[in-house]
Amino acid sequence: DWTMAAYKDQAIAAIREQVGDGKVICGLSGGVDSSVAALLIHEAIGDQLTCILVDHGLMRLNEAAEVAEMFRQHYNIPLVHADASDTFLDALDGVSDPELKRKTIGKLFIDVFEAEAKKLGGADFLAQGTLYPDVIESVSFTGGPSVTIKSHHNVGGLPERMDMKLVEPLRELFKDEVRELGRELGLPDSFIGRHPFPGPGLALRCPGAVTRDRLDILRQADAIYLDEIRKAGLYDAIWQAFAVLLPVQTVGVMGDGRTYEYVCALRAVTSVDGMTADFYPFDMGFLGEAATRIINEVRGINRVVYDVTSKPPGTIEWE
Ligand code: XMP
Repeated sequence: DWTMAAYKDQAIAAIREQVGDGKVICGLSGGVDSSVAALLIHEAIGDQLTCILVDHGLMRLNEAAEVAEMFRQHYNIPLVHADASDTFLDALDGVSDPELKRKTIGKLFIDVFEAEAKKLGGADFLAQGTLYPDVIESVSFTGGPSVTIKSHHNVGGLPERMDMKLVEPLRELFKDEVRELGRELGLPDSFIGRHPFPGPGLALRCPGAVTRDRLDILRQADAIYLDEIRKAGLYDAIWQAFAVLLPVQTVGVMGDGRTYEYVCALRAVTSVDGMTADFYPFDMGFLGEAATRIINEVRGINRVVYDVTSKPPGTIEWE
């Protein structure tokens, strides 16, 4: 008779046995996965764990600060907050190919992470919040030939380079199970219920060039959209919702003037595990209000569209 409480105890015992009195470092992204992995490991081995938050400048509005505060203040878990946004954004200058974005970010992430780990005096183990779908989807397309759909930046790379053993306590779990485990570990609901967010962050939601200006515009639109979703009481009914800033400008009219600004696409899906997804059937009144607020409040956007593609054939992220 399988329960999450039993799984937790088992996982803690397994971590203790694997790690012994070794040092562990864990990359925190702000997402549920790495947070749950960190908490679980902290519960198992206490201050033998240090977390590193690599801030790539591609997080959502206020996200990095909130994560740092949560782990340091609320949980008292040692956390290094490495602001590397300039490094990442400079490297992404001129990069618009989705796979190249992912590879650029993934490689730099490793560099920065490694440098921060060195500053800490190194460690014996590297912890990652890798889930079961991450493991299979980045390897092959189920039932077909081995084709990489997207290079997941949180799988592989680090361990070989850093000569560290991996601790991946969530490797057998699906997302809903990770959330249950988080609840078991006392993570607040506000954190557990958070929509998934990809490692390469907002770069994937800025098709075409990723610039500081475009990221700022995207962050504002995204925050308004999610605010509307929360106010409508829909946040928990949705697996993932976010704004995408298209590299396309269109003509509009505002007051007496002509505008020529970017298009913002809104995405929302329901899903059980991220492997398949359906677009969320908002009512038109909701979409109209979200669009009006975004266009009125965000300089740089004059048109909003809604993505009605399910997965397959679309993926959840646009890149
Ligand atoms: P796609 O876009 O492939 O996404 O349908 C499925 C789920 O995975 C998330 N995602 C990622 N998560 N690193 C991550 O940690 C990544 O590189 C990555 N790419 C996509 C995506 O947000 C969705 O929840």
